[in-house]
Amino acid sequence: MKTNFDCETGPIGVFDSGYGGLTILSSIRQAMPDYDYIYLGDNARAPYGTRSFDIVYRFTLEAVKQLFDRGCHLVILACNTASAKALRTIQQRDLPQIDPSRRVLGVIRPTVEAIGDISRNGHVGIFATPGTVASGSYEIEISHLHPDFKVTSHACPMWVPLVENREADRPGADYFVRQETEALMKADNDIDTIVLGCTHYPLLYPKIREAVAEGIEIVKQGDIVARSLADYLRRHPEMDNRLTRGGTTTYLTTESPEKFSDLASLFLGEDVKAERVEN
Ligand code: DGL
Repeated sequence: MKTNFDCETGPIGVFDSGYGGLTILSSIRQAMPDYDYIYLGDNARAPYGTRSFDIVYRFTLEAVKQLFDRGCHLVILACNTASAKALRTIQQRDLPQIDPSRRVLGVIRPTVEAIGDISRNGHVGIFATPGTVASGSYEIEISHLHPDFKVTSHACPMWVPLVENREADRPGADYFVRQETEALMKADNDIDTIVLGCTHYPLLYPKIREAVAEGIEIVKQGDIVARSLADYLRRHPEMDNRLTRGGTTTYLTTESPEKFSDLASLFLGEDVKAERVEN
């Protein structure tokens, strides 16, 4: 593979275990259309949500290195599971060795910052993959930023397969959405804010909206991450100057490009052409 590690400027890397990060990429591109992007989906090894810590860390680090090799100075982990299980170690242990000037950012911190202005009573529910819930990452971040908040996390193992099998807007999904929303509200009936802490879940938004009381805020991460990234680049001109602006997006997948292109349109609402890479 051609290595662009020595390039002084490059695109923004966006990584996800598969398709879900496309919901984040879509919001980022809408907010910042001038930049160049490389999206990498590790579809061959997805889902990450049920995998162990070590595996998610190892796969995520490989992906980050791959994006660095392709010239990215900044990589967004557009995957809650990877952000929960790999981000801290990569930031603290790997980046100083690989290249201390490069940055890897996740989606959990900006989401937690945003809910401080959204929740009125501090009772927050998190829907996420079993891996993200087991990591306790939302609880840890929220306890730092909003120590008075009560957090209830709930794993929804069926939701990613439902979305990937194009069942999100079909009647069969109603059962699984109701099952999880009822379990969450039973655990804390005062919840006034629910975070969709998995990149696939915005595709189930209409059904989740229907299943919970009107006054409950349902937080999608895309716009939050996009706003946070724009703010980060305003505060870090040294990074902003290293990002190329051509308005292009390159799609890479570790699985079949045809399969990726087919399902990617569901998440992006547009057709894309993907290229296969080794993981
Ligand atoms: N993208 C993952 C997340 O946001 C969900 C898909 C998976 O389990 O790999 O947690």
